[in-house]
Amino acid sequence: MNSKIPEKGRPYDEILEELETFAADDPDYKNARTWSLVYYLDDEYTQFLEKAYTKFFSANGLNPTAFRSLKRFEKEVIGFTAALFHVDEEACGVMTAGGTESCMLAVKTYRDWAREKGIKKPEMIVPETAHVAWGKGAEYFGVKIRRAKLSDDYRVDVNAVEKLINKNTVMILAGAPEYPHGMIDPVEELSDIALRHKIPLHVDACVGGYILPFIEAGGTKLPLWDFRVPGVTSISADIHKYGFAAKGASCIIYRSIEHFKHQVYVEHDWPGGVFASPALLGTRPGGAYAAAWAAIQANGMEGYTNLAVRTMNAVNRMKEGIKSISELELIGNPPASLISYRSVDPDVNIFAVGDVMQSKGWHVDRLQRPDALHAMVTAPHENVVDEYINDLKNSVAHVKKHPELAQQGEAATYGMIAHIPLKGMVRKSVLDMFSNSYKLSAKEIDLSDSAALSSGADGGEGDDKKQGLADKIIAWYVKKSSAKQK
Ligand SMILES: Cc1ncc(COP(=O)(O)O)c(C=O)c1O
Repeated sequence: MNSKIPEKGRPYDEILEELETFAADDPDYKNARTWSLVYYLDDEYTQFLEKAYTKFFSANGLNPTAFRSLKRFEKEVIGFTAALFHVDEEACGVMTAGGTESCMLAVKTYRDWAREKGIKKPEMIVPETAHVAWGKGAEYFGVKIRRAKLSDDYRVDVNAVEKLINKNTVMILAGAPEYPHGMIDPVEELSDIALRHKIPLHVDACVGGYILPFIEAGGTKLPLWDFRVPGVTSISADIHKYGFAAKGASCIIYRSIEHFKHQVYVEHDWPGGVFASPALLGTRPGGAYAAAWAAIQANGMEGYTNLAVRTMNAVNRMKEGIKSISELELIGNPPASLISYRSVDPDVNIFAVGDVMQSKGWHVDRLQRPDALHAMVTAPHENVVDEYINDLKNSVAHVKKHPELAQQGEAATYGMIAHIPLKGMVRKSVLDMFSNSYKLSAKEIDLSDSAALSSGADGGEGDDKKQGLADKIIAWYVKKSSAKQK
């Protein structure tokens, strides 16, 4: 390892120049080439957010009685969002650093709420499509996760949810929309079940919270998913997604303090003083709160509605474009801005299409069960939809001519991960590969190197050469797949 803190501090200009070089290989989000991860409007808007952020750059929301500015930002952002979701002033909530924090907090809250009722082995019921944040929350907080299957329309199967309920169930989850296929789960039906069994119902609107209300305001009818549905007890929503805020801004809102108070941590006899914390983080970034507040002020209802209308225009053109390619099929009938599509032609491997699209500069996510590509559409994508669809047509035709592409590059890795029958082994290999990649001696992860997965390799000096049974089987599978190609 050769990186060291410089002996003497360096000039600011020089450092800032060097920072630019770090960004050189990053995805080209400014030209709408990314279909996840980034919500970018334009330079002027970004500079405005930066200014808002830097004004409160050093402010710390740890102690809500110190920086009153931050408490005010938080209260107003929660107030705006609560009104958007149609809940009254009895509601309460906090800003968090992101969707994952918001989701994890719900798991903790309902676990502790149920603990008071004597539930010692808590379980939560989530749709199969629930975001990974829920699995993470379940694991971190010791709640058993029960995954309900989907109906044919890719929304959670309500009967499957009801069958999973037992005396240990502490919460039910719905997605609005869920990330993989962009479907809004049947919240009203889930609400009936939740009310009947007196179980809290959380709606994960991390991705949808700041676009669904504006799609509705733009004139598109959507199923109800927010606090208008009586059984909904809490909602998570990210302002750093379709709210176009700076990264680090999400929120969780509860209909009632009776649930929220189980989220709060208090330590009254710490030598450092009496301590109360409403969320996971200790130090809370003032800049992110200020930028979120500023983003909401700058866009307003009208601005967000215009963005939603532009987004839905782009989505509808994307859907038409995908439908015009006979080898592809949209998954489900997603009503909002997230879509996914798969191949219906056995000669067209969708992951290979993903690789070809990537070589054309598009940054696309891959899904599994079923194998598919994903697009989270934003307003600026309206300028690139035609180019995307054209590239997609050409990529499909290219893969059809070159079926061997399915056994190469990232397609081979994703194909293997998605189809190897022994999932526990895949998990172990991914775990090894991923954790090894954090060794200081490790090389960067190369997803096109499926052999690396088979050895949990890090390429580093101190690599553990011993392969477990799992690794051997995966190595065998990799060899088998590459033999097919010859
Ligand atoms: C439905 C849903 N929930 C939770 C999250 C997690 O959000 P974050 O990445 O901000 O932690 C995401 C992220 O895409 C999401 O789509």
